[in-house]
Amino acid sequence: MVVQRKPQNMMVHKMTMGFMLILSCLGFLAPVRQAHLQSATIADLSFQNMDFAMNLYKKISNYHDENIFFSPLSISTSFAALLMASDGDTYKEILKGLNLEKLEQADQPELIPTLFQRLHENITQDESLDQGMALFMRQQFEIENVLKDQLKTFFYADLKSVDFADTKGSISFINEFINNKTRGKVPEMISTLDAATYLMLIDTIFFQGSWQKPFNPNFTRNAPFYIDNYNIVQVPMMFLEDKFYSMKDIQLGAKVLKLPYQEGVSMLILLPNAGVDYTVVDDGITSQRFLSWIQKLQKTKLEVHMPKFKMEESYSLQNILPDMGMISIFSNSANLTKLTKKVGLKVSEVLHKAVIEVDEIGTTAAAATAIGITPYSLPRTFTVNRPFFFFIYHEATNCLLFMGRVIDPSKN
Ligand SMILES: *[C@@H]1O[C@H](CO)[C@@H](O)[C@H](O)[C@H]1NC(C)=O
Ligand SMILES: *[C@@H]1O[C@H](CO)[C@@H](O)[C@H](O)[C@H]1NC(C)=O
Ligand SMILES: *[C@@H]1O[C@H](CO)[C@@H](O)[C@H](O)[C@H]1NC(C)=O
Ligand SMILES: *[C@@H]1O[C@H](CO)[C@@H](O)[C@H](O)[C@H]1NC(C)=O
Repeated sequence: MVVQRKPQNMMVHKMTMGFMLILSCLGFLAPVRQAHLQSATIADLSFQNMDFAMNLYKKISNYHDENIFFSPLSISTSFAALLMASDGDTYKEILKGLNLEKLEQADQPELIPTLFQRLHENITQDESLDQGMALFMRQQFEIENVLKDQLKTFFYADLKSVDFADTKGSISFINEFINNKTRGKVPEMISTLDAATYLMLIDTIFFQGSWQKPFNPNFTRNAPFYIDNYNIVQVPMMFLEDKFYSMKDIQLGAKVLKLPYQEGVSMLILLPNAGVDYTVVDDGITSQRFLSWIQKLQKTKLEVHMPKFKMEESYSLQNILPDMGMISIFSNSANLTKLTKKVGLKVSEVLHKAVIEVDEIGTTAAAATAIGITPYSLPRTFTVNRPFFFFIYHEATNCLLFMGRVIDPSKN
């Protein structure tokens, strides 16, 4: 987020948020528990976050009819930090928009940030997953000490002073920070910056995983991918035959496949049946359904055909979040009194950028796994040759890290 401030009479204030993330590859899992609100757990937070993710996904798909990729966790974590900075109606709107009302307890104001902190600690134990937050502040701009401590304690935020008047220098400093955090995958998050900027909040998520069962690149072939009845593209299609967890959602007209990474993270692929319009399936995606898929997965031998793909997507969420009830934070009635005593600040911009690369191995080398083929049983096939959805989640917590939709894998 960038908070910008112009002379009082002008009242043009700006705040931008950028979040980025990265990944490569694909994923196994454990059943999840539903919310017990007396003593909320990170599983409860994951569940609420997932609902937020599905709501946000639907809004994004109303605006974009192409490939979609974003990190719901990065967005909800950033807004959880903003929640700490806000008060009054702004606070209530964010709480509701993030779907966190159920976890709010009046006598425990730090319960929600504590849950985010625990979730962060749990999912970042493995080196393949990293989440970081930074707050870049204009020199001499005072943010409230309570908030400073909360951002450091609960969100592990780095607080840095920046001379925003030196726009070129600030841009390269911030981009370098993001580039470091995303291990070189997002070299240039921002290209412009208003010299009147007050604050910029950045949340980064980085995931780099290798498949438990890597695809053999020798078997990758160009094959058709059917975008719709009229558009067919040739894409590099990977191949792997092994035992996988999968299931059919007959009511939805789709099937599900889990591709596990080595790091306790999995990719779940949702493939609409041939002839079923993906926009119909789109509308049926809910967190309840997601949980029912992972509970009903069964191990079967499968021939998997899956395209390699790469996507880089950017969203200006200030156009979308007001549709989810987060209105005042972007308006002149923003109540950010816990951020600073100065009045007249609002969030002007929320940038989200997400990058993904899916290939045979992942970006780190993985030992080739022997493929056990029993000659007498013919495996079924799971051929991802038409628009599909995918979800990348942390198994121990069921935390949804990333989600997306691929309409055309040849576009990035
Ligand atoms: C912010 O919200 C608090 C709590 O409702 C209220 O006391 C305060 O007047 C509000 N401030 C602004 C600037 O709206
Ligand atoms: C980026 O990483 C390099 C090398 O580790 C370090 O010297 C530099 O200070 C970092 N830059 C920022 C902005 O964090
Ligand atoms: C791919 O083919 C090359 C050449 O035939 C062979 O040396 C290599 O081991 C194969 N790779 C795998 C993973 O099977
Ligand atoms: C992570 O969270 C899961 C689910 O709550 C729990 O079973 C596991 O013990 C946690 N791991 C650590 C190291 O906190």
